[in-house]
Amino acid sequence: MLKNSITKYGLISTYIHWITAVMVFSLFGVGFWMVDLNYYSEWNKTAPYYHKAFGLILLFITLFRIGWKVTNIAPKELGENKIEKNLAKIAHLTLYGLLLVIMCSGYLISTADGLGIDFFNIVTIPSVGRLFEHQEDIAGNVHEIAAYILIAMVCLHALAALKHHFIDKDDTVKRITKFK
Ligand code: HEM
Ligand code: HEM
Repeated sequence: MLKNSITKYGLISTYIHWITAVMVFSLFGVGFWMVDLNYYSEWNKTAPYYHKAFGLILLFITLFRIGWKVTNIAPKELGENKIEKNLAKIAHLTLYGLLLVIMCSGYLISTADGLGIDFFNIVTIPSVGRLFEHQEDIAGNVHEIAAYILIAMVCLHALAALKHHFIDKDDTVKRITKFK
């Protein structure tokens, strides 16, 4: 089933969730590593190039994901604890919010000089120009801090998932890990 049902995530939501997870960890690792590359490194230009291009792919995936989410049924949360269910909702919204903040700030760092972003030599995503003073620095700080907060939130999110699986012994993890 491509679509979600009241009891489980469909294939589209499941694949997007796990593709996002792999991409977020990879983008974080590459971002963390590439900012310290010196001018003479052969990766000095290519690492940011791929970081930006894959970051943009994740932006498109996330926009599609949000569209898919609002036009689809949400599986009903498992468990009895109301506070826990509300916390999960807030955590999921925060994860979406952080992803968008990170990707928009990434765009603002890259396009602060008025130049667009080359997307795999296929198209250039245009710059909207410099929107505010010190755009590169401010967007850079936001990008870095939000990326650290995202990784911390994801760790809590994964711990919560493990609690459902091993302590509550419910289907929370199973229903987002069916790949066919
Ligand atoms: C970068 C990594 C990750 C991000 C950004 C992320 C984000 C999200 C979001 C936004 C949702 C809510 C989906 C919806 O709209 O209904 C979700 C659901 C879920 N995630 Fe993750 N996730 C990540 C990694 C992980 C990992 C490592 C696990 C680990 C075990 C995990 C387990 C789950 C489970 C079980 C659900 C379903 C929750 C439910 O049924 O209420 N996620 N994730
Ligand atoms: C979820 C997606 C992303 C994650 C997790 C992420 C993560 C990171 C991290 C950890 C850094 C290093 C920050 C530092 O130590 O200063 C970084 C740098 C950077 N990222 Fe991203 N990034 C993402 C998406 C994007 C996107 C979509 C773009 C642009 C289109 C982008 C552009 C940049 C640029 C230009 C830098 C270098 C900043 C500097 O030189 O200070 N990133 N990213």
